This record gives sequence, C-alpha cells and structure tokens, in this order.
Amino acid sequence: METYLITGANRGIGFALVQQCLANGHRVIATYRDKASANALFELAFESGLLTLVQAELDTEAGIEGLVGELAGQALDVLINNAGIMGPDQQDLDGLDSAAWLATFTINTVAPFHLSRLLLPNLLQSARPRIITISSQMGSLARQSTGSYAYRSSKAAVNKVMQVMATELADQGVIVCPMHPGWVQTDMGGMEADISAQQSAAGIVHFVQSLSMAQSGRFWTWQGEEHPW
Ligand SMILES: NC(=O)c1ccc[n+]([C@@H]2O[C@H](COP(=O)([O-])OP(=O)(O)OC[C@H]3O[C@@H](n4cnc5c(N)ncnc54)[C@H](OP(=O)(O)O)[C@@H]3O)[C@@H](O)[C@H]2O)c1
Repeated sequence: METYLITGANRGIGFALVQQCLANGHRVIATYRDKASANALFELAFESGLLTLVQAELDTEAGIEGLVGELAGQALDVLINNAGIMGPDQQDLDGLDSAAWLATFTINTVAPFHLSRLLLPNLLQSARPRIITISSQMGSLARQSTGSYAYRSSKAAVNKVMQVMATELADQGVIVCPMHPGWVQTDMGGMEADISAQQSAAGIVHFVQSLSMAQSGRFWTWQGEEHPW
C-alpha cells in the first residue's frame, strides 16, 4: 500500500484519481477548497477508511504552507499536483488581463513548485518517491497552436520547472514527471472531450505505479507514451 497526495480532488480528474487509487488499495490524502462543492469526496471519505481530506487553497503561500504543516511527519510515496485552472475566458491577441494571466501561473506553475519542494521531507521517507504534475499537451512547444496564451504558457512553464526539479532531485532518488492527462470530460475539458476522467485516471495511476528513475525528467501521456516537450 502506498500513500498518494492528490490536489484539487473534489471534481474532475482529481476526483477520478482518488477513486482509482482507492480501488487499487492505496491510502489517499486529497485536497479540496470548498466543502460545499466536495460532497462526493466527503461521501467517499465516509465510505473508505483509506481517504483523508484536507482543505487547502493552493494559490497562496499561506494555503500551501498550511497544507504542508498538516502533513508534517507523514510519509508520502506520490504527490500528484493536479489542481489547475484554464484561466480567463479571453486570452488571445485581442486581449488578456495581466492579473488573470498571473493568477493562472500562480496555481498551474508556482503552486506545484512550492508544494513539491516543501513536501520533500515527506517524500524522502518513501522507498520510491514520485512527483507527478498534471500538465497539458497545450503547453508543448512541439505543437503548433493558437490562443489560450495564459493556459499554454503556464503549462509550458511547469513542464520546465519539473524537468529542472527532476535533474536536481535525481541524486536523492526522487522521480519527477509532468503528464498530459488526455482531453478529458470534465468541467474544464467539456463533455465533447475524448475520454472520461475515469479512463484518464486509470491510465495515470497505472503508469505512476510502475514509474522508474529512468523515466524521470521526461513528459508523459496518460497512456504511458513519451510526449515531445
Ligand atoms: N480536462 C482536460 O481535458 C485537461 C487536459 C489537459 C490538462 N488538464 C489538467 O488536469 C488538471 C485537472 O483538470 P480538470 O479537467 O479535472 O479540471 P476541473 O474539473 O476544472 O477541476 C480543477 C480542480 O482544481 C481545483 N483548483 C483550482 N484552483 C485551485 C486553487 N487555487 N486551490 C486549490 N484547488 C484548486 C478545483 O477546485 P474547485 O472545485 O474548488 O474549483 C478542482 O478540484 C488541471 O491541472 C488541468 O490543467 C485537463
């Protein structure tokens, strides 16, 4: 049995990741922001003795430090930085609100950096520590694309952050990978997306369970295929 920390777990891919980890017999610590929109997660915690819930706003340093404080001393095998936002409705050449762009970076790029570095003492208690950040192919520099400047740039940036971290933490045996979860039927992905959150989560957890150091510092898809940066 391993222990996973999954952020942004009250809906979408995060919720499906919690379900999949529990189904696989893992212990899960899951974060949510607002109890009123976390009913399904609370029901799951009521049913499963393996799920612990922690309230955490991850777009402030105080929120991140609060979560880290709650987890002090607890061993973690896997951190999944999943919480994220698409950013403002308008993000094209006609306009992009600068504050909203920075807010997109705060949760999609900066929060995974701080959470990962501050939880290292927890992760280093594991025999095979892994840091997974749910990124997106929309941040891939190898793909020609248009629009969504805030979202794309925040995911391209978090990919680089995770690659640097992978290099720095290799000596300590920490595996660090950004992953593209597919185009997923969630509030963010829309219902016309390619795959269900359950399919995405099943692929991600299957891949994470078998991850080795040789795969660290590379960008992967939910199907376990390498994605070009
Ligand atoms: N869906 C797709 O097709 C797709 C494709 C590529 C990548 N992704 C990435 O996959 C991840 C999950 O996406 P999703 O589709 O499941 O999105 P979603 O349904 O919109 O869920 C986003 C989750 O992140 C949480 N969150 C947002 N801002 C937060 C903050 N400041 N502090 C704490 N939690 C916060 C949300 O909490 P609240 O409920 O409180 O807002 C929610 O739990 C994201 O990183 C996204 O960029 C998604």
